[in-house]
Amino acid sequence: MTPFNNPVEITVATYNHIAPNYAARRHKTVLGDELDRFLSYLKPGGLILDIGCGTGRDMAEFLRRGFRAVGVDRSAAMLKIAAQEGATLLALADSRRLPFAKDVFAGEWACASLLHLPKADFPAALREINRTLRHGHIYISLKKGEAETWRSAHGRKRFFAYYHPAEVELALERAGFHVLDVRLSGDAIGRDTRWISVIGWTKLDTPHVGACAVIFDEQGRVLLTRRADNGMWCVPGGHMDMDEVIRQTAIRETKEETGLDVEIERLVGMYSVHHPAHLFPERKSRTVFIVAFRCKILGGELALNDEVTEFGWFEPETLPPDLLAYHTERILDAMS
Ligand SMILES: C[S@@+](CC[C@H](N)C(=O)[O-])C[C@H]1O[C@@H](n2cnc3c(N)ncnc32)[C@H](O)[C@@H]1O
Repeated sequence: MTPFNNPVEITVATYNHIAPNYAARRHKTVLGDELDRFLSYLKPGGLILDIGCGTGRDMAEFLRRGFRAVGVDRSAAMLKIAAQEGATLLALADSRRLPFAKDVFAGEWACASLLHLPKADFPAALREINRTLRHGHIYISLKKGEAETWRSAHGRKRFFAYYHPAEVELALERAGFHVLDVRLSGDAIGRDTRWISVIGWTKLDTPHVGACAVIFDEQGRVLLTRRADNGMWCVPGGHMDMDEVIRQTAIRETKEETGLDVEIERLVGMYSVHHPAHLFPERKSRTVFIVAFRCKILGGELALNDEVTEFGWFEPETLPPDLLAYHTERILDAMS
């Protein structure tokens, strides 16, 4: 895409042209209710990122209310006015590539700015917000409607994407946010526009808890299953459900993954392991806390399923090389 057919470039060029007009018109309309609503979720003095801060109207209000604020915008002319209005922490940057480390901000505010992105780029901007937010809150306002289109302003063009509220909620959930509040409102300067404003917060990423079963046959061989998702061998096991205790997890997961009914003989150990991202389909590294039990078969038949492509009974001295590395420890501990 050249700058001549790139919606963001053309829209930013328009803002460079109309910045003084924009400031004159919009600075009179402080979005008091919206600011109150968003700021009520933040601790006093928290650090806020204003994405597409424009001429700095909302940054000035954040600072006035005792918060700290950083602004980013793609338009140098809009940022110049924001600086004249008293904002000091400003960066010329794109909402799809925020120039900040992860986990920096307590809140992020994107008022009427992400609506200038092509819809295909909306998820990338949300992911950037999630990356740079600590466990914190976002406010996003967009125009209600359908499709993507160009509108003229002072003889120049701006690109707009219009949304349905459910579309915004889905995009936020997919980008790792819980939606807390969705509102529809009229236009602060009287135009025939309906606004969607959404407050969300980052889903809390905590370690996953799970259980596994180490099962030996009469010859002392251990039962391994080959995972369908990454092709590696492992002992049967999985994550704990909300309504069970950890011993039930080991029994249920064994049944689901092998078809066998087992009972618990004894606790083997507790293991806190970091799963590297490349080994798992969701490509996300995570810490898991696993309780391993030695289990005895009561009945059932080995049966393959969606999660398992192969079973094998292995001598503990000759475990397969493509066994998940941290499962060896559980097998050896179960033998002792
Ligand atoms: C309608 S104005 C809103 C400005 C301010 N948030 C307000 O409510 O007054 C949209 C702003 O988004 C900025 N913008 C558009 N596309 C952007 C992008 N990809 N990255 C960063 N800023 C962008 C524009 O330069 C403009 O300042």
